[in-house]
Amino acid sequence: MITIALPKGRIANETLEIFEKVFKKEFVFEDRKLILNVENFKFLAIRSQDVPTYVENGAADVGVVGLDVLEEHKPNVLRLLDLGIGKCKVCVGIQKNKILNYDKPNLTVATKMTNITKEFFAKKATPVSIIKLYGSIELAPLIGLSDLIVDNVETGTTMKQNGLKVAETIMDSSAFLISNKNSFINKKIEILEIYDKISAVL
Ligand code: PRP
Repeated sequence: MITIALPKGRIANETLEIFEKVFKKEFVFEDRKLILNVENFKFLAIRSQDVPTYVENGAADVGVVGLDVLEEHKPNVLRLLDLGIGKCKVCVGIQKNKILNYDKPNLTVATKMTNITKEFFAKKATPVSIIKLYGSIELAPLIGLSDLIVDNVETGTTMKQNGLKVAETIMDSSAFLISNKNSFINKKIEILEIYDKISAVL
């Protein structure tokens, strides 16, 4: 039995589509159920930030999660494969009539990705105050909570509709297949089999 942690939402569906291609079988979570058993697989539907926790602790053998989440939390797991789905960028956003000036003192940045933000501005030698938010990040500069945001941009629609623009791209992200380190030793054959089959259909 291999337990696979999937982030709820679009990436979960795209990942299950990959599994459907591999196994020529239906893989669909029933309504509000959080566990899906098919053949030798147990899929778990998890909040994306929690996927590394399940995999790092061995509650799941493998998982699928965005590179942005891996870079933010730096979990002790193996990165096996870039699945090329869930593509987005992590960007610094600013109001469209403003310019990002790294020399401006007391810049405030709203974000859910505090570690990526800290590292980015440290590299620029720009001291910033970071405000941790959990969602609707684009709102912060509009109502004066922050000067900047660091957030995911996929189509750019959310920024555009809220009068923001990308000032800088920090990184490209896509979903990765990750593995628990012990599982990769104890269940190496099964995990490599999935790895090979997934690589073949990508
Ligand atoms: C994400 C991200 C942006 C938006 C970007 O939010 O935080 O707000 O999607 O997508 P776009 O460039 O295609 O508009 P999500 O929907 O995950 O909600 P959140 O506000 O809870 O982070």
